[in-house]
Amino acid sequence: MAEGPPDHTSFVPGPETARAFRTALGRFATGVTVITIAGPDGPMGFTANSFSSLSMDPPLVLWSPAKSAARFPHYAAARHYSIHVLAADQSEISARFIRGGAGFDGLPHEINAAGVPIIPGVLARFDCEQHAAHEGGDHLILVGRVLRAAHRDGKPLVFAGGSYGDFAATDRAQKAGQAPMDALLALTNGLGNVNAGLLALGRWIGATAVALMVAIILIQVFFRYVIGTALAWPEEAARFLMLWMTGLMAPTAFRRGGFVGIELVVRLLPGKIAAGLTLLLLILSLVILVTGLGLAWSEVTGLGGRFETDSLRVPVSLDLSTWMKVPKAWMMASMLVGLLLLISVAVELLLRNLVVLLGGTNDLRAIPGTATMGAE
Ligand SMILES: Cc1cc2nc3c(=O)[nH]c(=O)nc-3n(C[C@H](O)[C@H](O)[C@H](O)COP(=O)(O)O)c2cc1C
Repeated sequence: MAEGPPDHTSFVPGPETARAFRTALGRFATGVTVITIAGPDGPMGFTANSFSSLSMDPPLVLWSPAKSAARFPHYAAARHYSIHVLAADQSEISARFIRGGAGFDGLPHEINAAGVPIIPGVLARFDCEQHAAHEGGDHLILVGRVLRAAHRDGKPLVFAGGSYGDFAATDRAQKAGQAPMDALLALTNGLGNVNAGLLALGRWIGATAVALMVAIILIQVFFRYVIGTALAWPEEAARFLMLWMTGLMAPTAFRRGGFVGIELVVRLLPGKIAAGLTLLLLILSLVILVTGLGLAWSEVTGLGGRFETDSLRVPVSLDLSTWMKVPKAWMMASMLVGLLLLISVAVELLLRNLVVLLGGTNDLRAIPGTATMGAE
């Protein structure tokens, strides 16, 4: 007799091979349900994975309790019962209703019109009326007519090989459904990388500007108080560096800190409401930043930008023979660059919040040094 491929264990089910039979049956992954009835001493539940859909018209489902179960007589006799399909994070509920489990102790529940206990928050529920009972060896096949059904979104709890797990779809329909989210994530993480690079460069230049500013102030102190004659250019040069430092450093603070202050309120709110509120604030700040950008552009390119600084000069040629006065536009350009970086960060944060709202938080890359804006 053919034994099957070499990687298969093949056997005839019987008392000797009960364990192997169980193992083979356990290869079939199922969901997990809890079937509840009004027991003689109050609400009663029974964990079962033998649940199956049976008929659309009339609406029928089935499951099979073991005749050996202590609770069997109550289930065989029950006229009404509710079948609860558990979600991926509800294995604790499953454990309550196996032998020796805590049962309904401390588990919030309601009682429906038929007197059946209802566990809220499950993935789906079928309220049934006993329709038929069929012989099934050491089990009884109970067929229930579904009087009312309910469901919500979420991942199911899966049971296979004696272990609980959850479900990850790999088929094409699911992938097609994920395509827009994948694109949004790629865009968000891509812009995140660009911003991270630009801002790191900005921080280096900003830090150099701070160092130069300190050096220039010390030079001025030396000239004013030691030599006795102050130089003409240090104040304006320090202002120049200060503006560039602010323009290049502020976007990093915005990216890491978001809306300081309002963040405390946002943290108290549930995830999606917080993300929605943050999204609204980001849209508002984008409007303000873009308006600011328009103003900065006209400052740099308009009449104001054509003026020259009072005391700052730079060499025009390599031999340092000719010097020119630095145009004010070079100073104002710090505002333009700063606003462009702030806008880029605001767009990134906006996309991040959109991802959070659409439930893709787990695939977001964290912003280093943050605990905000959906990074958690
Ligand atoms: C995931 C899972 C699925 C189960 N499915 C069934 C089932 O379909 N039928 C059944 O009789 N017992 C099933 N059991 C075992 C029962 O929940 C119960 O523990 C067992 O029948 C003993 O019940 P008793 O305490 O009333 O004697 C399952 C247990 C687990 C953990």
